[in-house]
Amino acid sequence: MGKIEGANYNVWVNEDNQILVDFIENLKPSKVFIIVDENTKKHCLPILEKIIDRQYYPIEIHSGEIHKTLQTSESLWEALINYQADRSSLIINLGGGVIGDMGGFVAASYMRGIPFIQIPTTLLSQVDASIGGKLGIDFKNYKNLVGLFQNPNMVWVNTQFLKTLDPRELKSGFAEVLKHGLIQSKTLWDKVKNKSLNFSDADWDNIVFESIQIKNNVVSQDPTEQGLRKILNFGHTIGHAIESFYLGTDKQLLHGEAIAIGMICEAYLSYKENLISKEALQEIQDAIKNVFHFEKGLKIATPQIIDNMSKDKKNRDGKILFSLLEGIGKCTFNKSIQKSAILDALNYFEQI
Ligand SMILES: NC(=O)c1ccc[n+]([C@@H]2O[C@H](COP(=O)([O-])OP(=O)(O)OC[C@H]3O[C@@H](n4cnc5c(N)ncnc54)[C@H](O)[C@@H]3O)[C@@H](O)[C@H]2O)c1
Ligand SMILES: [Zn+2]
Repeated sequence: MGKIEGANYNVWVNEDNQILVDFIENLKPSKVFIIVDENTKKHCLPILEKIIDRQYYPIEIHSGEIHKTLQTSESLWEALINYQADRSSLIINLGGGVIGDMGGFVAASYMRGIPFIQIPTTLLSQVDASIGGKLGIDFKNYKNLVGLFQNPNMVWVNTQFLKTLDPRELKSGFAEVLKHGLIQSKTLWDKVKNKSLNFSDADWDNIVFESIQIKNNVVSQDPTEQGLRKILNFGHTIGHAIESFYLGTDKQLLHGEAIAIGMICEAYLSYKENLISKEALQEIQDAIKNVFHFEKGLKIATPQIIDNMSKDKKNRDGKILFSLLEGIGKCTFNKSIQKSAILDALNYFEQI
């Protein structure tokens, strides 16, 4: 399919396997480690094993966000020590965003940093988490609190991994694809908003490629989120607050599901701020609701969700800041919104 050039690394999408093999061998690694969880060990490692066809050491961790911790990182550092990994050892992170973020964090800090390759295996990690060099772990219930920016040596994307992914996870990742269209590309949006888009045989090759191009374009211009990169937070100020609220209840929402709600609410805020038309708002909410079938009576207009937003680490001077749409395919950032208007937006979602 093709190569997308990052700041100091390349993202290869559905390319010839030999490119990966040659890249690994050119690094002349003393040892190769592949980090997996029980799911990617079962579904993805057999595929990768055949491609790289060389000796490696698998390191397995438990799947799930609750394991994206310092404790799991310690177990990874320990495994590296036990296998006598040195500065020219290579880590391959084979998994979703949890493995990518944490495996990258472990690689970037072990002996002050050893080479690592991201092989994202979920839709979310292919179009989002593996691109842009944000690495880290959760700490004391704060998501991604400890981490750093560090680009991988390479990102290797293969959409064949998506075949074994749980359909709910696939949909969750799709929220970020919709977001990429909304903030930067009307062409991608027009393609993916389509009512007849079928998840089981969608054109993932092109959808993933275009989505990565958009994220890469944004992060290349603003690698450390001083300005433009904030547009990637569209849907996330409200979405994160909803995600945290439902975490630890019996009604857990996946990240993309919470972001989908957040995008409807923040599109409503964009409309109320006279940045988009009523027709655009309708089009956005219809497209999102066509993919995500939200539970009837889902409560989101609660003081605690507003309170969660006040704690967002991106706020400044006590103001709640939003990235809002200025049309379909265009986004602005640092828009300060009153709490009463946010509550209106949450109520709006409950009514539609
Ligand atoms: N670094 C960034 O810029 C960035 C951006 C967005 C999200 N993230 C992070 O990404 C994480 C979420 O990533 P995610 O949605 O990929 O979740 P995940 O890594 O938890 O993966 C979801 C589930 O799918 C399983 N799985 C992975 N690949 C599979 C495959 N091919 N077949 C079958 N099962 C498979 C995993 O074992 C897991 O159970 C969060 O921790 C989030 O903070 C990071
Ligand atoms: Zn997200």
